[in-house]
Amino acid sequence: SQQRRTLIAGNWKMNGGLAANAHLLEGLSLASLDPVGSPEVLVCVPAVYLAQAEASVKSSRIAIGAQDVSAHQSGAYTGEISSSMLADFSCQYVIVGHSERRAYHHESNELVAQKALQALRSSIFPIVCVGETLEQREAGKTNEVVVTQLRAVMDVLDDGALARIVVAYEPVWAIGTGKTATPEMAQDVHAVLRATLAERSEFAATKVRILYGGSMKPDNAKELLAMPDIDGGLIGGASLKAIDFLAIVNAA
Ligand code: G3P
Repeated sequence: SQQRRTLIAGNWKMNGGLAANAHLLEGLSLASLDPVGSPEVLVCVPAVYLAQAEASVKSSRIAIGAQDVSAHQSGAYTGEISSSMLADFSCQYVIVGHSERRAYHHESNELVAQKALQALRSSIFPIVCVGETLEQREAGKTNEVVVTQLRAVMDVLDDGALARIVVAYEPVWAIGTGKTATPEMAQDVHAVLRATLAERSEFAATKVRILYGGSMKPDNAKELLAMPDIDGGLIGGASLKAIDFLAIVNAA
């Protein structure tokens, strides 16, 4: 939509290393991204590489983000990373509630909401992930699941904060499987999510970008991004190769 700037975000997940990252970041930085009317480009890297990413994208238009954040501000939380620590490395976005964290680390809707709140306290935009499993889709529960996930975050934010989040719809069955939701299937869920935001704030519903994630690739990006309520992509596998990621950026 013209009202929202398209956001193309890479989620590297637990991939990479100093040498591979240098190569990938250089490939992305060298691309001449046209500043006028072009999408916003973001890479969400493993936290230990934020400093590397920060240094490497300095003179480019690429933004950097993290993949998770603590729900706490500071203190005795061994192994966790706070939002202010992320902000120290120019982190502008952080993914919260990715389905892999919900599944493998048992993150609840309430914890995800606290993480989103904590990110905003450090002026970092949370990318709130929602999505149904195959079983939930087949049981006809898709809308109920994603709306419940989104509402938990809405419950802890005031209207101003709500307008500053990004939502990512990632059907679990489409992640890393090569199966994508059809543009129509994705659009239906995106429209439901936007209507849910509108129940609270028309302003937030107009402002908030809703990304699609789940096997987005250079060859399917265009048709997904053409849908009225799909405002960008959250890309896993295809974000690990500069040529593929840039092809998606160019499709936007
Ligand atoms: O967060 C992005 C994601 O889960 C999608 O991964 O590999 O299917 O693009 P992939």
